[in-house]
Amino acid sequence: MIVSPSLLSADFANLRRDVEMLNESCCDWFHLDVMDGVFVPNISFGFPVIESIVPFARKPLDVHLMVVKPERYVERVAALGAKVMNVHVEACPHLHRVVQQIKEAGMMAAVTLNPHTPLCSIEEVVADLDLVMLMGVNPGFGGQTFIENTVEKTRRLRQLIESKGAKTLIEIDGGVNRDTGARLAEAGADILVAGSAVFGAGNPQEEIKYLKNLK
Ligand code: DX5
Ligand code: ZN
Repeated sequence: MIVSPSLLSADFANLRRDVEMLNESCCDWFHLDVMDGVFVPNISFGFPVIESIVPFARKPLDVHLMVVKPERYVERVAALGAKVMNVHVEACPHLHRVVQQIKEAGMMAAVTLNPHTPLCSIEEVVADLDLVMLMGVNPGFGGQTFIENTVEKTRRLRQLIESKGAKTLIEIDGGVNRDTGARLAEAGADILVAGSAVFGAGNPQEEIKYLKNLK
């Protein structure tokens, strides 16, 4: 299992301390949630904050853009040295083009689906994607309750990917904890994002280790 802790639940007044805690953990990626207050009803942080942690972040960056017109930022995300650029299908009327732009910029192309968005919305591009991310909550806030349908949706996404003979990875974001993580692993998830479950744990590094050992 690839584990990508979400810095949205970090202590922003001690961001460097929390990033260094993750550096020392067995997590794989850093999940960075950028929100614009338009695509989602919240504003988180943007490029200046991410740039400030890049010099001491020792894991690949998994950048989740909850913004309208995310294609405006392909070059800026690439300039961060990000491994993954994650855009929402609901924000991209020309999704195929955006995916090509992300790949040309040297990043893994990831497409995210909101809870209500059906899998058929990506059926025609799924084989071109490095990763599909399913939201387990409505995007915008950490610490929300997991939407149960996500487990079954993960199972169907796994079938869709296999039916295309593709190698696309499945990432789940929102409401992931020990219980939901175990069920998502069984349903075919490759990557788990966890914010409040990690940063709200007495021992965040142990929590990451637990999620990592799920599959
Ligand atoms: C929500 C973000 C998530 C969030 C997850 O819009 O995309 O990455 O941090 O938080 P938890 O794990 O607390 O549900
Ligand atoms: Zn996210």
